[in-house]
Amino acid sequence: MTEIERPRVLSGMRPTGRLHLGNYMGALANWVKLQHDYECYFFIADYHALTTDYANTENLRRNTEEVALDWLGAGLDPERCVLFLQSAVPQHADLHLRFSMITPVSWLERVPTYKEQQENLSEKDLSTYGFLGYPLLQAADILLYQPKFVPVGQDQVVHVELTREIARRFNQFYKLDGREVLPEPQVLLTPAPKLPGTDGRKMSKSYGNTIELTDPEATVRQKLKTMVTDPARVRRTDAGNPDLCPVGDLHKVFSSPDTIASVNQGCRSAGIGCIECKGWAADALVQILAPIQQRRASFSPAQAMEVLRAGSECARQRAEATMSEVDQAMRMPKLGVATASEPVKLAAGAAL
Ligand code: TRP
Ligand code: SF4
Repeated sequence: MTEIERPRVLSGMRPTGRLHLGNYMGALANWVKLQHDYECYFFIADYHALTTDYANTENLRRNTEEVALDWLGAGLDPERCVLFLQSAVPQHADLHLRFSMITPVSWLERVPTYKEQQENLSEKDLSTYGFLGYPLLQAADILLYQPKFVPVGQDQVVHVELTREIARRFNQFYKLDGREVLPEPQVLLTPAPKLPGTDGRKMSKSYGNTIELTDPEATVRQKLKTMVTDPARVRRTDAGNPDLCPVGDLHKVFSSPDTIASVNQGCRSAGIGCIECKGWAADALVQILAPIQQRRASFSPAQAMEVLRAGSECARQRAEATMSEVDQAMRMPKLGVATASEPVKLAAGAAL
C-alpha cells in the first residue's frame, strides 16, 4: 500500500511505568501489527496521568521513559509510526478547551467510568474539573488527528462513543465552507485474550499481580511458581482442569498447540505436576519476552525520549493543520503574523 492509501489510526496509553504482559497483549502487540498497514499515531497520555495523579507527579518523567522504552522494545518503529508525548503537542490542550465550551456537563457525569473510578480510587480526591473532563481530553486527543480508526480495548469503547458525540456536536455548530471539520472515528476493537495475573485475577498493575515486559527469566520463573492453580488440584495425585486454572489460561495464549495438548492430557490425568506445567508456561513467556528485552536494551532512556521529541514535532504539524481548520470553522478572530519584510510595529506602550 502506498502512503496515501493508508488509513490513519490514533491511540494512546497513560504513562503507568513499566508495561506488563496484559498491556502488551491488550494493546501494544496490536499496535506493532498496525504500523505496517496504517498511518499510525501513538502517544503517551501524560496529561491524562494528571487527572488522577495530580498530587503525585514525582514518577511522571521516569514512567514516561519506561513506557517509551517498552514501546521500542515491543517493536514500535519510529520509522513506521509517529510516537509522541501528549504534553509536547499543545494543540491537545487547545482543542480540549474548545470542546469544554460546547459540552454539557451532564454528558461527562454520565460516563460510567466517572463515578466508578471516583469510588474505586476513593483515597484520591477526584472531584476535580480535570477528572470530569478526562473523556473530553481524550476526544481532543483523537479528533485532533482526524483518524479513521481508534484501536482500543473494550474498556475504552464508551470514550470513543463520547468522542463521536462531541464530533457531531462540534460539526453541527461549526462548518468550514459547508464541510465538516471533525469526522467521526470508528473503534477498532483490539481482541484481548483472557490474561490472568499471578493471583488468578485479571492482570493489572493495581492488583500487583503482573509479569512485566522487563522481568528477567529468574523473576518470570519465580512468579510462575507462586501463581495460583486449579483449586481442585490439592495434591499431586488429584486430577485438574486447565480450563479452570490461570496457568492453563496462560498456556492458551502463549504456548504451542503441542504443549497445550500435553497440558490438557497431563493435568486431567494427573500425569504431570503443576510445577512441571508452570515450567512450560514460563518457557513460553521467556521466549516472548527475550526479543523484547533485547531490543529494549539497545535504546538508552535518552534515545527513547529523543524518539518522542522528534515524533512530537511531527504530531504538532498534523495537529496544527486540524486546529487551523477548527479556528476557521469557529470563526475565531485572526491576527496577522509578523514577517521579516514587515516587522510588527510595537504599540507605543509596549516600547516602554
Ligand atoms: N484513556 C486511555 C486509557 O486509559 C488512554 C487514552 C488517552 C487514549 N487518550 C486516548 C486512548 C486517545 C485512545 C485514544 O487507556
Ligand atoms: Fe494448572 Fe497446569 Fe496444574 Fe493443571 S497442571 S492445575 S493447568 S498448573
